[in-house]
Amino acid sequence: MMFIAFEGCDGAGKGVQLARLHERLESLKIQHVMLRDPGDTCLGDAIRKILLEKSSLNPCVNAEAALFMAARAQLIHEKIIPALQNDNVVVIDRYLLSTAVYQGYANNLPEEELQTLWRSGLALASNLFPDLTLVLDCPTELARQRINRQKDRIESRKQEYHERVALGYRYFAQNWSRYAPGKVALIDAAKTPEDVWTQIQSAISQQLDLELEPRNRTTELT
Ligand code: TYD
Repeated sequence: MMFIAFEGCDGAGKGVQLARLHERLESLKIQHVMLRDPGDTCLGDAIRKILLEKSSLNPCVNAEAALFMAARAQLIHEKIIPALQNDNVVVIDRYLLSTAVYQGYANNLPEEELQTLWRSGLALASNLFPDLTLVLDCPTELARQRINRQKDRIESRKQEYHERVALGYRYFAQNWSRYAPGKVALIDAAKTPEDVWTQIQSAISQQLDLELEPRNRTTELT
């Protein structure tokens, strides 16, 4: 039973690394489930649409946070808990830290309100938090260049907002014990995909009892 989250600003390169991890877990025949937050349930997909499509709904900051939390609660109930109970490694694209960063820190919430947001988010997440959170840290300029598709409602926010997002990730990584259970690894995502993958593999094998190097595993098995 192991729960790993990928976090980082838009364009940090989570997608590529998630695909690599999925591939590696497949090749090692490690039972796993890949999920994304928000999404992967009917309710979550409906909420995802409300949150990411440009429309006239204009959720305010608190409504936005509540919607992300509702989508997550459903995902935990329908997918995450059953998968963990079935001894899967669960890998998730974003989790509560995204809400704390995007709806909290990036909106300049003071420390006390960040704590409140975090606590309510954790309560609605049934106090379930990843064993390891990998934060892909990337300068916003570079991250922006990497998004070569139509930007969604949140990605379209102004540069200052995204700067705050990047700062927010660093803030939480540095003050981890004040907020989150589980472990955190700050990954330098400005490097090449190969280098980033090496950092991710070593963070996973150092922080969790999960060896991703095929060679080492083969040696162990023989
Ligand atoms: P993501 O799925 O990473 O976007 P994409 O599929 O476009 O790569 O995340 C969706 C967006 O939602 C992203 O801009 C971050 C934002 N988000 C929040 O603002 N709060 C949250 O709690 C979560 C989970 C995501």
